Amino acid sequence: MSVTKTHYAFMPDGTEVHLFTITNNNEISAGIITKGATLNSFTCPDKNGVMGDIIMGFDSIDNHITSGTYTGQVIGQYANRLCGGRFKVGDTEYQVTQNEKGKTCLHGGAEYSSAVWKAIIIDDNAVELTYHSPDGKEGFPGNVDVTVVYRLTDRNELEINYKAVSDKDTIINLTNHAYFNLGTPAAGDVLDHELQLFCDYFTPTDADSIPTGEIRSVKGTAFDFTETKKIGRDIAADDEQLIMCRGYDHNFCVNGEAGKLRLVAKVTDEKSGRKLEVMSDLPGVQLYTGNFIDGSETGKDGVVLQQHYGFCLETQYYPDTPNQPSFPQCTFKAGEVFKSTTIFKV
Ligand code: BGC
Repeated sequence: MSVTKTHYAFMPDGTEVHLFTITNNNEISAGIITKGATLNSFTCPDKNGVMGDIIMGFDSIDNHITSGTYTGQVIGQYANRLCGGRFKVGDTEYQVTQNEKGKTCLHGGAEYSSAVWKAIIIDDNAVELTYHSPDGKEGFPGNVDVTVVYRLTDRNELEINYKAVSDKDTIINLTNHAYFNLGTPAAGDVLDHELQLFCDYFTPTDADSIPTGEIRSVKGTAFDFTETKKIGRDIAADDEQLIMCRGYDHNFCVNGEAGKLRLVAKVTDEKSGRKLEVMSDLPGVQLYTGNFIDGSETGKDGVVLQQHYGFCLETQYYPDTPNQPSFPQCTFKAGEVFKSTTIFKV
């Protein structure tokens, strides 16, 4: 087990960005850069023992700064969408950034993901990143202190622990927005990856990707991943929800009790022989199949990133939760600690 810290790049304002690389005793490694607390690489062997990086992302700071994909970044203060960028905490109504179509708030704007986080090595297999979000940034209430720990174990689990506490009542929904491609992006799209989701329900949306409030059974629909199937099998089905989003871009309700760590998803890629398991204690997960990636950006090793070259499993509270009283809520009182764990196991 080891963790190294190296220079990665400088931000345009001169702030230094570092790269932390955690390597376990199986030679599997995770690279984290301090800009956006970004999971920049996750390197593991294929069925022939050939190492490959399963994170779709970038190898230059310029791309990390300009890309709108949020790849690998820690997203806050509210991951996913808020209708009209508006919500209430108690009797106080807040208007936050409307960074999507001038209407909705997506991923809390660019605050957490564009910040350069402070980081220290806390163990021979773990890095702790911290960020202070000032009261009112992007419109969100509260001075929020956020801590994210990435830990890579010898069981090949990359564990991400999130902790946040605010000095005012506020909403908090944190996730990691990594795009995975188990064959590595150089091998093309992920439509042949086999996916199982431990989710019997999902939350359909309107045309702005805001949940309608319905909790719909996946049974008999293209959204049914309860039995393993290829990501691409039903992606082009004649289903209004899929057509609207050009593929999967939906929140699934994770079976079992939120607050307890449980299996969310299993993914395998027969071609490379790599697999991924996702566990989380959060109530939901966004399956996003890279629908809006359009060949306009070049990723690591000169690979032009095309539609479906990566999939995301963003563990989360459901989108627009503060405006949907029937969803599990994510309003935290001043001083109350938000705590959550997600594990990506290869
Ligand atoms: C959203 C997509 C969006 C992507 C990149 C996902 O979480 O649901 O609609 O395009 O993030 O911002």
